[in-house]
Amino acid sequence: MIASSWELNFNRGKFLEYHWQSKPLLMRNAISQFKPPVSSHELAGMAMEEDVESRLIEYRNNEWRVHFGPFKSGDFSRDQPWTVLVQALDHYLPAVAELRKLIDFIPQWRVDDIMASYATAGASVGPHYDNYDVFLLQGSGERLWKLGQVCDDTTALLSHDELRIIDTFETAEEYLLRCGDILYVPAGIAHWGIAQTECTTFSIGFRAPRIADMVSRWTDHLLEQLGSDAFYCDAKRTMMTRPGEIQQSDLERASAQLRAALDQADSNQWFGELVTEPHYSLPQDQDDVIQALSLLKDGFQAVELAPAAKLAWQQDAKSILVFANGECQRFDTSVLPSLIILCHDWRLNASDLDTALLDNSLVALLGYLTERGVICVT
Ligand code: SIN
Ligand code: CO
Repeated sequence: MIASSWELNFNRGKFLEYHWQSKPLLMRNAISQFKPPVSSHELAGMAMEEDVESRLIEYRNNEWRVHFGPFKSGDFSRDQPWTVLVQALDHYLPAVAELRKLIDFIPQWRVDDIMASYATAGASVGPHYDNYDVFLLQGSGERLWKLGQVCDDTTALLSHDELRIIDTFETAEEYLLRCGDILYVPAGIAHWGIAQTECTTFSIGFRAPRIADMVSRWTDHLLEQLGSDAFYCDAKRTMMTRPGEIQQSDLERASAQLRAALDQADSNQWFGELVTEPHYSLPQDQDDVIQALSLLKDGFQAVELAPAAKLAWQQDAKSILVFANGECQRFDTSVLPSLIILCHDWRLNASDLDTALLDNSLVALLGYLTERGVICVT
C-alpha cells in the first residue's frame, strides 16, 4: 500500500470544531495497516547526511544532552537510551512528503515540515512544549505519550543552552501509541514521549506565522507603497493655550490618518510570500532547470510538485497570484483549473490537459514554477 492511498479514519469536521489549535486528540488506529515510509535504519542514514539537519538527545548523568549531526555510525553505539531526530525529512523523501496529504483539510501552506525520530527503548527528548501544532504519527514500536499543562513564555524551563525542557511537568493524560495511531497536540501543550520499545515517530508540524513577523512584512509592503511626500496634517486645529501639550485630538488625528493610509494600500501579497517562504533552502541545479524548461516547450509528459515545494495561490478580481517558495507572480485566471489540480494531486499530466488549457498563461506558469524549484518536469 502506498502512502497516498492511506486515509485518516476520523471526523474532520468535528476535529476542526473541537480540537484544532485548542484540544489534544488521540486518533487510535488513525491509519489502518500503516507501514512507516522509512525504517529506523534509513532514518539513521539520513542523520549521517551532510545537508540534513539532525540532533541526538540523551539523558545521561542526570542531565539532558544534545549532539548535532551529521553523525557517524559509531555515534549510534551508546550505553544509555537515545533519540535521533531528523528535521524536514519530507523535503528529501517523497514517500515521507506523502504523509502531508493525510491532513489535506488544513491548507498545505500551514504545514511546516515532517520531522522523524528514532528512539531506543526508554529514550525521550524530555518534557517540552512546541510553538506549533503537531500530529504525532507512531511508526514502528510503541511510545507512551504524557500530556501536561498549557505553557507559554512564562513557563519555567530547566537552564539549558540548547534544549527547552519544562522544569515541572504536570501529567494530565497518558496514551500508549502503536503503529498507525496519531496524537494531535496543539501548540503550547506540554508533552513528553517515552519510547517503550525501539520506535519511530513522524511529527507532521503546522507552524503559524508570528504576529510580529506579519506586522513587519505588512509594514514593509506598506512603506513601499506610501509616498514619502505624505505628511501628518492638522489643518483647522483649535487654538492652543498650553503649547507643550499633545492633546487627545492630536493622537486621534494621527491614528485616523494612519488608518486612511493603510486602507489605501491595496496589496496583501505579503501574506502569501511569508507563509510560502522555505525554511530550508535546497540547492537547485541550473542545468536541470534549463533542461526542464526546454521539456516544457517541446512537449512534456507530466509535472510533479517537488517534495519541499511551498506553493499557494490567491484569487483577486482579475487574476491569480501564485506564491512559490516565498515569491509571487500574477497570472491569468485561465491557469486556475490546472493550479487546483496541481495543489490537490501534486501532479499534472499533459495528457489530461485540454489543449485549449495548455495556453500561453499555463506554459508561463509552469516555467515560473520550474524556475522557483516548485515542480519537476518529466
Ligand atoms: C519525538 O519524536 O521524540 C519528539 C517529537 C515531539 O515531541 O514533538
Ligand atoms: Co514536541
